[in-house]
Amino acid sequence: MEEVVIRPVSEHDAEGIARLDQLLTKVWRAEHWEERIAFAMRRDPEGSLVADRNGRIVAYLFSDVRGQEYGFAEKTGWLEALGVDPDLQKGSLGRRLIDQMMERFRATGVSTVRTLVSDQHSSMGSFLEKVGFQVEPIRVLSRSTV
Ligand SMILES: CC(C)(COP(=O)(O)OP(=O)(O)OC[C@H]1O[C@@H](n2cnc3c(N)ncnc32)[C@H](O)[C@@H]1OP(=O)(O)O)[C@@H](O)C(=O)NCCC(=O)NCCS
Repeated sequence: MEEVVIRPVSEHDAEGIARLDQLLTKVWRAEHWEERIAFAMRRDPEGSLVADRNGRIVAYLFSDVRGQEYGFAEKTGWLEALGVDPDLQKGSLGRRLIDQMMERFRATGVSTVRTLVSDQHSSMGSFLEKVGFQVEPIRVLSRSTV
């Protein structure tokens, strides 16, 4: 198997991420990824990652750090998006990306990482529990605008 290199996301990755995201979600949203990458580069260029196999993006992870919003007592690292190429799933890429993110947060003084997962996306929840995340008592409230 060709080597997979994990590196910080770059502004040139939008199309590659959009292609992978389309495989996972069936939706093409290149503009969204351009904006998401620009946001990541402004906030913390090292905090969001891609796995690159021979120039092809085979996994991505986006994270961010927020202060004491939502009533949390300390700043929180947020895992915001994660996807692995279906052909390479269960090959440890997801774990490698999470490990690198955790290392980055540790190094920058962030001691807690949180994420939100819909119950409708149960396989992501199972994976996250497998790699060390725990369910936290928190209420998600929503209200329709229409
Ligand atoms: C969930 C996901 C990120 C996992 O990544 P991955 O590279 O396949 O997972 P890994 O190979 O690193 O797995 C690490 C461990 O978790 C386990 N695992 C992986 N997927 C799992 C799942 N769905 N449920 C339970 N455990 C799982 C593995 O068996 C492995 O366990 P082990 O260390 O005991 O062998 C990946 O399957 C994925 O991208 N799924 C689609 C997500 C998606 O649609 N994202 C875009 C929209 S949000």
